[in-house]
Amino acid sequence: MELSVVDLAPYLAIRDQGGCRREEEEEQMVALCAAVSRSLRETGALLVKDPRCSAEDNDRFIDMMERYFECSDSFKRLQERPHLHYQVGVTPEGVEVPRSLVDEDMKEKLSKMPKVFQPSTPEGPDPKWRYMWRVGPRPSNTRFQELNSEPVIPEGFPDWQETMDLWGHKMISAIEVVAEMAATGFGLPKDAFTSLMKQGPHLLAPTGSDLKRHGIEGKVFAGYHYDLNFLTIHGRSRFPGLNIWLRNGQKVPVKVPVGCLLIQTGKQIEWLTGGECLAGMHEVVVNNRTLDAVEQARQQNRSLWRVSSTLFAHIASDATLKPLGHFAESPLAVNYPTMLAGEFVEQELSVINLKGKTSSS
Ligand SMILES: [Fe+2]
Repeated sequence: MELSVVDLAPYLAIRDQGGCRREEEEEQMVALCAAVSRSLRETGALLVKDPRCSAEDNDRFIDMMERYFECSDSFKRLQERPHLHYQVGVTPEGVEVPRSLVDEDMKEKLSKMPKVFQPSTPEGPDPKWRYMWRVGPRPSNTRFQELNSEPVIPEGFPDWQETMDLWGHKMISAIEVVAEMAATGFGLPKDAFTSLMKQGPHLLAPTGSDLKRHGIEGKVFAGYHYDLNFLTIHGRSRFPGLNIWLRNGQKVPVKVPVGCLLIQTGKQIEWLTGGECLAGMHEVVVNNRTLDAVEQARQQNRSLWRVSSTLFAHIASDATLKPLGHFAESPLAVNYPTMLAGEFVEQELSVINLKGKTSSS
């Protein structure tokens, strides 16, 4: 199954001219928004093309992150901030623990899945590094200070801040448009989601996985899990390996075309839609296509670090999570009690007894 690719250009053009001027534009907007909400509901994912985010922007970001991850472990550990729950700076490999390893309910559900759709079983914590960089303004007054900490800049990377901020802001701009379109497609006011995202603890969180050491078929870089944030967005990775699970339980390898961005649903959009849109389950595992890409990179003398250019878009920590609009009337709404987004994040981390050890996303 191929994921739909939605080109954001027509939506942006109509928005920039101040709204629809002709009936055909109206129809086009309705169809585009419906395609966005349908893909998020049925697959937990969506591919978009955003004319503001080029393949060159993605390359510039990945080039810098490859250079960073190639540095020695002792250098990278200077950017480690365990006392801040790793919410800024680097998270070394072997720290993030996949939920499927510790969550008993999830383990039971997995054992009931048809064998062919079961996720790979990780041997332990994820063997991937991650860098957390907060993007966008922070609230001056918040009850959740540790989720909004100051960023960390490694020495010897003069373009770090500019490169991270440029990519981060582009990713947030793309997410905001998708969030507007999704809200419209779900029958909510256009700003139903974006108004809650303002000053959210958005994190640019690229991962680095060393394929020189771990390039073995079946190696699990990120065990089966969902993201606890609102929506996650990635540029195209130079090495494939991401599998997602559709709403119908089917496991699908994701192919991101050049110049496209991949969006995945997190737990917060599930909350806001009362379960209409479920958090997308996913894993990253070395497969034969990954190994083909490794071989090609070796021949071209390119880096063998698999970088994901991921941004986690969050609902603001002090905003309220609850099923919005007509979703409050759904019989499933009782499963999504009202709480502050910051409390929700803390609860998610403590349920799996990992607060201070993982972002779980
Ligand atoms: Fe994830």
